[in-house]
Amino acid sequence: MGDRPDQRETEIAAIRAGIAAGARVIDTAEMYGSGRAEDLVGEALAPIDRQQIYLISKVLPENASRQRMAVSLDASLRRLRTDYLDLYLYHWRGNVPLAETVAELQRLQQTGKIRSWGVSNFDIDDLKELWQLPGGDQAVANEDLYHLGSRGLDYAVLPWQREHQLPLIAYSPIAQGDAWGHHLTTNETVKAIAAQHHVSIYQVLLAWVIHQPQVLAIPQTSSVAHMTQNVAAADLTLSPAELTQLDQAFPAPTTKQPLDIL
Ligand SMILES: NC(=O)c1ccc[n+]([C@@H]2O[C@H](COP(=O)([O-])OP(=O)(O)OC[C@H]3O[C@@H](n4cnc5c(N)ncnc54)[C@H](OP(=O)(O)O)[C@@H]3O)[C@@H](O)[C@H]2O)c1
Repeated sequence: MGDRPDQRETEIAAIRAGIAAGARVIDTAEMYGSGRAEDLVGEALAPIDRQQIYLISKVLPENASRQRMAVSLDASLRRLRTDYLDLYLYHWRGNVPLAETVAELQRLQQTGKIRSWGVSNFDIDDLKELWQLPGGDQAVANEDLYHLGSRGLDYAVLPWQREHQLPLIAYSPIAQGDAWGHHLTTNETVKAIAAQHHVSIYQVLLAWVIHQPQVLAIPQTSSVAHMTQNVAAADLTLSPAELTQLDQAFPAPTTKQPLDIL
């Protein structure tokens, strides 16, 4: 979002429609459109009470150092037209030592420019390494790819995060509109559950992602209609029988899978 000037008004309308419908979390990153997504979010939020919103942005691996992170953060804040982030995520692991990144995230938290920090695209070994570092267990979230057709996290990451009370932010929760051939939207079980509840297939996919405690879904949409529908998915509760049916149609892996990333 934010890449196409001719779509700007539509995208701003979609973000505001989400907030009007009750969404409170916005996830963006300095990487997205080289800052253009943050700028779009900043414009969309201009007339909105900042306190209502939980604003997340992310620092690129090459900027996650003592020398560069503060500069990146200030640029994000400027584009977002705010003086603080609720959550600043280390977007994915790069060459900067993890201990240095964590120390800098903690230092920036002390300045008040970020209320909390977390990580993204961390696998089980990364999380365990993080927890061994001074202050590493102060991370408040891990953001990984997770949807009904990509359940690698169910094997080790999610059980570990539950045990350590570290929430998961699930990205690509509807598999980018089923763009990767997982056949989620044509699956008979998914279709039948959607018909039963008089909701869309995408709402079923979102309800499945958030049915576990401490799992947040961050679907992306540039459409007001889709946004309103996606927020309403929070009110859809799948029954134990429906969850079992979905589990049978898309089983969790029984062995360790490589971390799915985008
Ligand atoms: N941490 C990371 O490394 C990372 C990586 C990737 C993404 N993310 C975050 O996760 C967010 C979502 O991930 P994503 O964009 O990859 O995938 P996604 O949310 O699974 O899918 C987005 C796609 O689904 C479509 N869509 C959304 N709602 C729909 C609905 N109700 N009905 C039909 N189509 C619908 C959207 O098109 P329309 O615009 O037409 O609705 C868009 O093409 C991103 O915006 C980003 O903030 C994080």
